[in-house]
Amino acid sequence: MADEHVPQPSSEVAPAPHRRRVRYSGKNPRRFEEKYKEHDPQLYAETVAKVVAAGKTPAGTHRPIMVAEILEVLAPQPGEVAVDCTLGYGGHAQELLARIQPGGRLLGLDADPIELPKTEARLRAAGFGPDVFTAHRSNFAGLPQVLAAADHAGVDLLLADLGVSSMQIDDPARGFSVKLAGPLDMRMNPSRGQSAAALLEKIRPETLGELFRENADEPLADELATLLAGKKFSTTTALADAVRGALARLQREAADLAVRRVFQALRIAVNDEFSALDTWLRHLPACLNPGGRVAVLTFHSGEDRRVKKAFAAGRREGVFVEIADEVIRPTVTERNANPRSTAAKLRWARRVAA
Ligand SMILES: C[S@@+](CC[C@H](N)C(=O)[O-])C[C@H]1O[C@@H](n2cnc3c(N)ncnc32)[C@H](O)[C@@H]1O
Repeated sequence: MADEHVPQPSSEVAPAPHRRRVRYSGKNPRRFEEKYKEHDPQLYAETVAKVVAAGKTPAGTHRPIMVAEILEVLAPQPGEVAVDCTLGYGGHAQELLARIQPGGRLLGLDADPIELPKTEARLRAAGFGPDVFTAHRSNFAGLPQVLAAADHAGVDLLLADLGVSSMQIDDPARGFSVKLAGPLDMRMNPSRGQSAAALLEKIRPETLGELFRENADEPLADELATLLAGKKFSTTTALADAVRGALARLQREAADLAVRRVFQALRIAVNDEFSALDTWLRHLPACLNPGGRVAVLTFHSGEDRRVKKAFAAGRREGVFVEIADEVIRPTVTERNANPRSTAAKLRWARRVAA
């Protein structure tokens, strides 16, 4: 597979191999890998619909957030060129693809070499051939290089839905989950950089405290940093237990929130998320065609602050003719139906026409 920043379509799509039915104890599968029906929505639509109706995300899938709102602000038109900078499961991409036909094209970027080929195969199976859709394993910080390699001076639509997908969170092997036991990894691309375990083992307490403050607004940053820096935690549960143990004086809910903030801060650091976002925001004006639109979904204040500031600067400098003055939030109906949408904030901007 191509190196990041050296944009190329991802690997050829091979036919799915025959798989034996997964065996599990009890009436219903409990573990991520046992939920084979949820992993295959095409084949088991009824099971998947039941899981969704219960407000959950079927294993191995991702439910796209604020689809109607994103379509409204991006206003995709037939013939336009779009980039989904965070392809994930391809939910948003599929909606955009349907609206830019005939004649349109969508480039899907993702840093994750494990999920990207699966999403590419699903979108091919949904009827989007290489003439209308291409998948690129690339960090979105490398957007200009991806566009140059695909011979696009600029594009009409850009979307970024930041953070990690449900496939990544729910798979214990990826090490993102605060609830599921797995290796303490957290890398979107496991073949690049260092795992969260390696980071913790090497980092100094002052640096870790700064990271907890900057990446997650953690109120007990220094206390937790002193406890965790330089220690070896091989699993997600070992780290979560250490944080809970240190905060035994707090109510269970408060300690759980601290665990979440520690995981978030480490994930952002391991994947260098803020520097990728800053680079992408700097490149935006040059990557958008005149009149082009960009939409960004953020999930915490560190992300939203950066997007808000960059869009406001673009408007002051006359690059953007219009930006979202107020952040757009998911409806109550969506938050109830999909609790994972709760923290989402949508911002958008439109480039000047000429
Ligand atoms: C929230 S999910 C996107 C879900 C997608 N909108 C959908 O409908 O399925 C975020 C995705 O962006 C990817 N990602 C996050 N940061 C990235 C970056 N800097 N460059 C490329 N991909 C990134 C993650 O690997 C993940 O697949």
